[in-house]
Amino acid sequence: DTLDRGNSNAKLEQLDQFREDATGEALTTNTGVRIADNQNSLRAGERGPTLMEDFIMREKLTHFDHERIPERVVHARGSAAHGYFEVTDPATDLTCANFLSEAGKRTPVFVRFSTVQGPRGSADTVRDVRGFAVKFYTEEGNFDLVGNNMPVFFIQDAIKFPDFVHAVKPEPHNEIPTGASAHDTFWDFVSLTPESAHMVLWTMSDRAIPIAYRSMQGFGVHSFRLINAEGQSKLVKFHWRPKAGVCSLVWDEAQKLAGKDPDFHRRGLWEDIERGLYPEWELGLQVMDEEDAQSFGFDLLDPTKLVPEELVPVRVVGRMVLNRNPDNFFAETEQAAFHIGHVVPGIDFSNDPLLQGRLFSYTDTQLLRLGGPNFNEIPINRPLCPFHNNQRDAPHRQQINRGRASYEPNSIDGNWPRETPPAPSAGGYASYPEPVHGTKIRVRSPSFADHFSQATMFWRSMSETEQQHIVDAYSFELSKVERLYIRERQVKEILAHIDPLLALRVAQNLGIDLDSTETPTLEGKAQVSPAL
Ligand code: HEM
Repeated sequence: DTLDRGNSNAKLEQLDQFREDATGEALTTNTGVRIADNQNSLRAGERGPTLMEDFIMREKLTHFDHERIPERVVHARGSAAHGYFEVTDPATDLTCANFLSEAGKRTPVFVRFSTVQGPRGSADTVRDVRGFAVKFYTEEGNFDLVGNNMPVFFIQDAIKFPDFVHAVKPEPHNEIPTGASAHDTFWDFVSLTPESAHMVLWTMSDRAIPIAYRSMQGFGVHSFRLINAEGQSKLVKFHWRPKAGVCSLVWDEAQKLAGKDPDFHRRGLWEDIERGLYPEWELGLQVMDEEDAQSFGFDLLDPTKLVPEELVPVRVVGRMVLNRNPDNFFAETEQAAFHIGHVVPGIDFSNDPLLQGRLFSYTDTQLLRLGGPNFNEIPINRPLCPFHNNQRDAPHRQQINRGRASYEPNSIDGNWPRETPPAPSAGGYASYPEPVHGTKIRVRSPSFADHFSQATMFWRSMSETEQQHIVDAYSFELSKVERLYIRERQVKEILAHIDPLLALRVAQNLGIDLDSTETPTLEGKAQVSPAL
């Protein structure tokens, strides 16, 4: 292993082996034959049909015909950059994860920001959650922190994710709208799903229209588990804090930019890095004792709740700098495969039922999106440390595995790759031996039942201007909902439980009578203030 392992450029150096620069080279086919004419196909006579034997044209068209891969089922629109993570305050009391162990230690990272709802070609400045996915190429394997720019989520259980995403995506009959949350299926679902109240409020706030990726916070959302060298475990929430501060657009700017410069965030990230204005974040941890999982008035396993920083301050352990743009969008950004299940020794999962379902979903979707189980061999996904096992074959295998046996134990190739004793004494991954007892049952824990207190807290913590933006956002988005009973349900059954004044202000804008028990019909379609 000749890699300089503290070297923040190590990933870029690894990628160099795969970079190709055709400047000044001869044009060839994929089998290396030099091409004499790239302008004309081979035909029978000047005006005759094209010949099947034209292997040069056939190869070119075939490759082109197969250029597209499926876009991500969510977070399809995104942009990424290389950089490094540097430890400022080692967290050895909390975790034996090597990349957090020493002040000044640097680990290469690749970070992809995204919107959630829109397709690959959609606009950047839409009202939406932003993905914030970080791949740390650590000495002990890849650790992916696959987070968002908001600290909570819409649902509590992964089994609801396909329902939620079907409601968020364009409607099935006409694929409208392609880039906004303002439509009947979204509001139908969330108005019937009170656990979404808190997160929907965040998405109606200015956080959902960031001015730039560099101005966004990032959150791991779930409680994770850290394990230290003594085998002690704590629950932890991950936070990214932008050095540039949190800053948002106003709605009018966001809408205009979506038309005038749909690449606004992508371009900003790219140009800042090209100019040397490197975006930077602090990584912070909120650390909780497992015994306290239910002592905050909510359950630490519930992903619709955040831990107030007044109760548990954020301890900053490092910083992250993005300082290099990718060379090729497809090869790097599009083929990057982030997965919440990519952890290293010292980091483990909690029983958050959303987290648990995600552990299945990412690899599953990448098997389809990246064409089989060898996507870890794609340069951007390769770990920096060596990787060896008895997994074999499948489409697009790059490694040429030597040896006569691909199983263990075996008595033919004695020197097969061996297990490593568990961390921290050696580096083998060992799951935290959490005692688990329970009855097999489909149930939502009663400790997940309070859907509104934190939403109320969020709303009341806003300044008057921010509250006005939230009222305007609900009013604008709900005014696009055609079925009046859905508008009314969101106002009366969700907003009224967050804060009666919020409900009243939105109701007034939408012409909803809060005292009426009649179900509104389309004939009585409310007039929406033209200012909205
Ligand atoms: C992307 C599933 C919740 C953050 C994805 C993808 C899937 C998925 C299938 C596409 C991955 C790919 O094609 O490579 C789920 C499921 C969830 C869930 C089943 C809940 C049960 C969340 C939550 C967060 C999140 C709570 C934030 C904490 C992301 C991000 C990406 C993503 C950032 C984009 C990664 C990238 O840039 O490539 N998710 N997700 N997801 N998800 Fe989730």
